[in-house]
Amino acid sequence: MNVLVVGSGAREHALVWKLAAEIGADQVCCAPGNAGIERLVRLGPSTQDPARLLEFARQERVDLTVVGPELPLSRGITNLFAREGLAILGPTREAAALETSKAFAKELMARYGVPTASFAICDSADAARRALARFGFPVVVKADGLAAGKGVVVAPDHETAERAIEDLMVQRKFGESGDRLVVEECLAGEEASFFVLSDGHGAVPLGSAQDHKRAFDGDRGPNTGGMGAFAPSPFMTSRMEARVMRDVVAPVLDGMAAEGREYRGFLYCGLMLTANGPQVVEFNVRLGDPEAQVVLPLVESSLIDLMQAAASGTLDGRQCVLKRDVYVGVVVASGGYPGAYETGKVVEGLDAVERMTDVLVFHAGTRVREGRVITGGGRVLTVVARGDDYPHAIARAYAAVDLIDFDGKHARRDIGRKALIATGREGSLGSPA
Ligand code: AMP
Ligand code: GLY
Repeated sequence: MNVLVVGSGAREHALVWKLAAEIGADQVCCAPGNAGIERLVRLGPSTQDPARLLEFARQERVDLTVVGPELPLSRGITNLFAREGLAILGPTREAAALETSKAFAKELMARYGVPTASFAICDSADAARRALARFGFPVVVKADGLAAGKGVVVAPDHETAERAIEDLMVQRKFGESGDRLVVEECLAGEEASFFVLSDGHGAVPLGSAQDHKRAFDGDRGPNTGGMGAFAPSPFMTSRMEARVMRDVVAPVLDGMAAEGREYRGFLYCGLMLTANGPQVVEFNVRLGDPEAQVVLPLVESSLIDLMQAAASGTLDGRQCVLKRDVYVGVVVASGGYPGAYETGKVVEGLDAVERMTDVLVFHAGTRVREGRVITGGGRVLTVVARGDDYPHAIARAYAAVDLIDFDGKHARRDIGRKALIATGREGSLGSPA
């Protein structure tokens, strides 16, 4: 068995870590990978180009490829591998439209009765301005296409909404991604991410998590790729999960299959748990980052078995057993991220953290220079800790984060606080031991 993981972030480090533990590090490779992944498994070429990855997969006699990020999926890596007879887990370009076009996702949900915010799809700035009147404020303005998580503006007032339309559609801040906009009703509630693995027909739940998208404590500051996560989400009870499987996952998979866009792979359901039940905020056609770093350690079942079954359309009757622990992951970032930041800073303290029990360190923007780990990106590491409950996992995660140091280091200090509030344990931080 030879598995290739495509991607270079902490999410892919977590995937590689889990797969290497199951089948042995010599059976796993990763492209492009990063400095942390390189310590576990061999790396392939530094590219996200499907044709070059195909060449590498052939040369390495890879039996199954799993794709972490959305970009290679949007470029049709699954179409190419399938055409060439190589097994791969991830949706085709046509099925990836669930993430690559928000307008497509909204219209699909409308066609199949999936609960989501009411919306208007707008092909001109005038149409978008007219839509504002329909929804009132706050209102949400979204670029249709991919924008690295930055194409969504939750606008409290008219002026902010107008500016979003101007930036996205007129100034084309994200290029053609903003040539079409979705203007939608603003939902209120708790936000949770729910993950399933689909084989095109049915799906297996993989668990839930909550992300922290803003740069600073208290959900303030600009949106980032994600500053930390915990799993599971206390709001995703087994009842809620069953409801989401029935009202969201099943109709979406059936609808995609009926429309010739059979969906195979990980599916990320971004949910708002409102007073009227769960509503879909977005779909992503992959695992989340940093959610994967806290969800994958919870998986007790063999992930490789589930992935192979999903890729070959034979998931029926399987389930994913989860541990009863909780995990908290804190992203350690470069000061200034998501704006401008410096790189090349020496990262201290990794050895001490790696000696801690129940702590995992997943690398994202790291490089090695003269044998030392240095920073090479905005999100540098995700530091993940296990606990029997949220207070212990949070305390342990921050004990580890505090051992790590580099010039300009930035981490939020309140990751997991929402779980403490939800479980009535705010103010009761456990000891890290
Ligand atoms: P997205 O990229 O679609 O996940 O949107 C980014 C963030 O914007 C989400 O995580 C939500 O916090 C927020 N958001 C998106 N759509 C809505 C909505 N209809 N109502 C309230 N918040 C939203
Ligand atoms: N954590 C959000 C994402 O992966 O899109």
